[in-house]
Amino acid sequence: RLAFATRSKSVATMAASQEFTGNLKREVEKLFDASLRITVPDGTSVETEVAASLPGKPGDYQCNNAMGLWSIIKGKGTQFRGPPAVGQAISKNLPASEMVETCSVAGPGFVNLVLSSKWMSKSIEKMLIDGIDTWAPTLPVKRAVVDFSSPNIAKEMHVGHLRSTIIGDTLARMLEYSKVEVFRRNHVGDWGTQFGMLIEYLFEKFPDTESVTETAIGDLQTFYKKSKTKFDEDPDFKEKAQKAVVRLQGGDPIYRKAWAKICEISRTEFAKVYQRLKVELEEKGESFYNPYIANVIGELDSKGLIEESEGARVIFLEGFNIPLMVVKSDGGFNYASTDLTALWYRLNEEKAEWIVYVTDVGQQQHFNMFFKVGRNCGYPVTMNQAARKAGWLPDSDKTYPRVDHVGFGLVLGDDGKRFRTRSSDVVRLVDLLDEAKTRSKTALIERGKDKEWTPEELDQTAEAVGYGAVKYADLKNNRLTNYTFNFDQMLSDKGNTAVYLLYAHARICSIIRKSGKDIDKLKKTEKLALDHPEERALGLHLLRFAETVEEACSNLLPNVLCHYLYDLSERYTSFYSIHQVIGSPEEASRLLLCEATAVVMRKCFHLLGITPVYKI
Ligand code: ARG
Repeated sequence: RLAFATRSKSVATMAASQEFTGNLKREVEKLFDASLRITVPDGTSVETEVAASLPGKPGDYQCNNAMGLWSIIKGKGTQFRGPPAVGQAISKNLPASEMVETCSVAGPGFVNLVLSSKWMSKSIEKMLIDGIDTWAPTLPVKRAVVDFSSPNIAKEMHVGHLRSTIIGDTLARMLEYSKVEVFRRNHVGDWGTQFGMLIEYLFEKFPDTESVTETAIGDLQTFYKKSKTKFDEDPDFKEKAQKAVVRLQGGDPIYRKAWAKICEISRTEFAKVYQRLKVELEEKGESFYNPYIANVIGELDSKGLIEESEGARVIFLEGFNIPLMVVKSDGGFNYASTDLTALWYRLNEEKAEWIVYVTDVGQQQHFNMFFKVGRNCGYPVTMNQAARKAGWLPDSDKTYPRVDHVGFGLVLGDDGKRFRTRSSDVVRLVDLLDEAKTRSKTALIERGKDKEWTPEELDQTAEAVGYGAVKYADLKNNRLTNYTFNFDQMLSDKGNTAVYLLYAHARICSIIRKSGKDIDKLKKTEKLALDHPEERALGLHLLRFAETVEEACSNLLPNVLCHYLYDLSERYTSFYSIHQVIGSPEEASRLLLCEATAVVMRKCFHLLGITPVYKI
C-alpha cells in the first residue's frame, strides 16, 4: 500500500520553529517537502513543486504535486481515490509551523497555503533590525568569473559595450550579494593584427613614443581610423604594419613598449567611463593568456581534436557547419584560442565554479563552439540552457562548474535601425551619459530644484537620475530582445522607469522624515502589523525579495529584478493611496512598513548599479 508519512521528525520540528532565512519560496518548499512523502512503486521520489500564487488567486503559495503524483500511483494499489484526495493528504501532513495560517485544497488537488501575517510581520521586523543582508540568497557556488564590458583597445566603447558593462555589473552585484566571490573580468581586446598598423602609425606620428600622452593622440578612435585608412591605401605602410605584428608577437621590446603605450592610453579612456558608471572591473586582457595558449592548444592536439584545413588548424564539431579555427594559417593564435585558454585558466588557476560571459547574441556561436571544445577536451563544465536544448547535454547534467553565455540584443534608434548618430557614426558612450545627465538636470531645474538645493545636490541628483535612467532602460527588458534607445521615454517620471522608481523611493524617505520620528528607535520598540489587505500584499512582496534575486541569478536575467522593483513600488502606491501614515493610529507600524519598502528598494537599486536619491 502507498502511504504518506512525514519525511522525518527533524524536518517537522525544524519547520515548526521556522526562522526566515531569506528565500520564502524555499521555506515553503521545505514545508511541503516534509509533507510530500509518498512511496512511488518504482522507488523514485518526486520533486516538490511550489509556485507563488497568481494575484487574485487563493493562497500565497501553491503546491502542484497532487496531479503528477496521482498519475504515477494510479492503479497501483493506492488508497487514494484521485488527485484531490492526494492534495488532502499533502495538506493534512503539512508540519505545524508558525509560518502557516491555513492550508486548503482547491479544484483538482491544488494545495494552497496562506502565510501567517503575524509571522510575516515578525520576519520583516527582524530584517529591519539585522539588515537586509541577512536575506541574501545562498547559491551553490563559491567563486565565479563574470567576463563583461571587454572593449577593444583603440576602438571606442560603443553602445554594445555599454550593454555588456551594465548587464555584467548587475550580474556581478547580484552574485556578490549572494555571497559568491566574483572575479569581475575585463577581457579587453588588447592583442591581434590591428596592433601592427597602430604601432607603425604611432611611430610615424610620434617618433618619441615615450612621451605620447592621451591628449597628444586626441581620441584613439580617430587615430585608429586614420591608421586604418593608411593601411588600406598605402601598400608600403601595409607591409610595414604586417611586419610590425610579427615583431610585436616575437617580443621585440620596442614594439612591446609601443603596444603598451597604446593600451595604456585606451585604458585611461575606458576608466573614465567605468568611473562614471561606478563599475569596477579587473583587466585581464587577451594578451594575459598568451603564455598559456601553446600548452592548451597542445593538449587539444594530443587528444586528437585538431585537424588541418587550408593551412589553418581547426576543430570540427558536431552540430556546427563551420569548424572552430584555433591556429591561423600564419601560425598566430586568435580570439577562439585565447578564449579556450582563458577558460582553462579560469577553471584551473582561478578555480571558478561558474563562468559567465556577457556579449551581444551575435557571438553566441563562438561561445557555444569553444564551450563544446572545452568539454570535448575534458574540462568539467556544463553548458547553458541553449546548449542543453540543442541536445548536447542531458537535462540531469546540472552540476557546476558551469559556463554561460549571457547574450543580449541590439540597441535600436527611433527609426528601428541600429542606434547611430546623425553622422551615422557609432554612438559614443560618454556623449550618451552626458546627455542623460543634462536632460535630467533640466527637468530638475524646471521643477525649481535649483532654488531649493545646493549646486552639488542638483548635480549629484541629475547624475544619479540620468545614469540610472540609462541603466534601467537597458536592464528592464529581457536582455535577449533588442531595445530602443529613447531619452524621452527613459527620463519620463511615469511608467516603468528609473526616474519614477527613484522618485518613489525619495517620497517614502520624505514621509519618514516628515513624521519627525526616529526610525531606528521605532525599529526596536514598535511592532509592524499587516492587518489590511494592501499592507499584507506589500509585506508579502517584500518577503519575496530574496527568492527574486536568486531567480535572477540562476537564470542570469536582471529584468526579473527590475520587474520586482516596479511591482514593489506599485504595491506601495496601492497601500499609500488608501492608508494614512502620519497621524494615523497605525502610524508607527506603517512607518516601519515604509522603511522596509525603502530598504528593499535601495537594495534593488544597489544591485542594479543605480544610486538612490533621498530628496525630490
Ligand atoms: N572584445 C570582444 C568584443 O568587443 C568581447 C570579449 C568578450 N569576452 C570573451 N571572453 N570573449 O566583441
